[in-house]
Amino acid sequence: MAVRKILTIGHPILTKVAEPITEIDDEIRALAADMVETMHKAPGLGLAAPQVDVSKRLITVDPSIGENPEELLVLINPEITDQEGQVTCEEGCLSVPDVSEPVTRPTRVVVSFLDLKGVPCSVEGFDLMARALCHEIDHLNGKLFIERLSPLKRALIKKKLKKKRDKDGER
Ligand code: NI
Repeated sequence: MAVRKILTIGHPILTKVAEPITEIDDEIRALAADMVETMHKAPGLGLAAPQVDVSKRLITVDPSIGENPEELLVLINPEITDQEGQVTCEEGCLSVPDVSEPVTRPTRVVVSFLDLKGVPCSVEGFDLMARALCHEIDHLNGKLFIERLSPLKRALIKKKLKKKRDKDGER
């Protein structure tokens, strides 16, 4: 297992629609293990494969951030099959450093997926779990959470991030 580098906004893979996984082989198992380690180390409660430079439909979610193994989920080809409610909460992303903004998400989602053995599964998530699942599935569709903000707010954030990048570049 190894911690992988987390890509940040501006990297083209983050805006690409990720490919479905057709075979769960050693490479996918290693990717999943690395993603769990990378997510816990960050620390974050979710990670999507494109964030570690792999354009495949795999996400990891762990609202306990390593505290409770029962809360850790590895989801292959996840799909939202049902959702309800709406709640607006502050949200951030490991790929958009130092930004957190209110985003509206469902209060409940049902997600179908394959586990690492290829067994079809389904999980029902509420509140923070629902938010994490939606956020990570958005990544698989090439969508960062700031794409869900108003165009004005998004423009301001992009400007701020660019300024920060330019400043970091000068050092
Ligand atoms: Ni994210």
